[in-house]
Amino acid sequence: MRTPIIAGNWKMNKNPQETQEFLEAIKGKLPESGVEAVIGAPAIDLNALTWFSKDEPLKTAAENCYFEDAGAFTGETSPKALSDMGIDYVIIGHSERRQYFGETDEDINKKAHAILKNNMLPMICCGETLEQREAGDAESWVTGQIENAVKGISAEDLAKSVIAYEPIWAIGTGKTATADQAQEMVHVIREKVASLYDADTADKVRILYGGSVKPANVKELMSKEDIDGGLVGGASMDPESFLALANFNK
Ligand code: 13P
Repeated sequence: MRTPIIAGNWKMNKNPQETQEFLEAIKGKLPESGVEAVIGAPAIDLNALTWFSKDEPLKTAAENCYFEDAGAFTGETSPKALSDMGIDYVIIGHSERRQYFGETDEDINKKAHAILKNNMLPMICCGETLEQREAGDAESWVTGQIENAVKGISAEDLAKSVIAYEPIWAIGTGKTATADQAQEMVHVIREKVASLYDADTADKVRILYGGSVKPANVKELMSKEDIDGGLVGGASMDPESFLALANFNK
């Protein structure tokens, strides 16, 4: 049984004070079991999150890290430091990082290795543009991204990791992939994992859908066989909305 994940991705929003206010608003209201609630926040807000998560059923995610543990890399965040402070996940390969910061599949693969080496888990993002979908290239593009991201990762490590399918045309646009479209691609990704690894690994790896997930559509998405959760931008920033998402099965 794969435990569902509802993961917020705040992107470049909220300062430490706003983070504190959000956390106070959700205190005592997250599901104790059955769902893993995760917040991915800017590096400057992670300290508040890790303190909160010591007493509350919340897991924490960084939105990026570098692939070296330390050194002369001005402005980067060390995966070792994230691990030392108690961070659980690192989101890597988000389309915004690929598009605006030139992140390549090779970088993402190196980051995945660095994250696992530091006892955290990667949330590996993938997704196609509208042009790629319309040209019929979405499946080959997305499975190619996954194949490159997981190179050299053991079956045991991948089984614990998370993949997030986020069609670029559905991010922040209010345009959700239909639950059937999301299920279809998430299934293709699971099949790809089965072909690269084995059926057991494919059965264990959790695959999320992201792109305009909100309280109004989360139930339908979550009812699909292969969809194990949501990676949520806009709708994760308001406490009530995040709580509604995290408690989708109540
Ligand atoms: P929205 O939920 O705002 O569409 O963002 C999705 C996303 O990019 C999560 O990583």
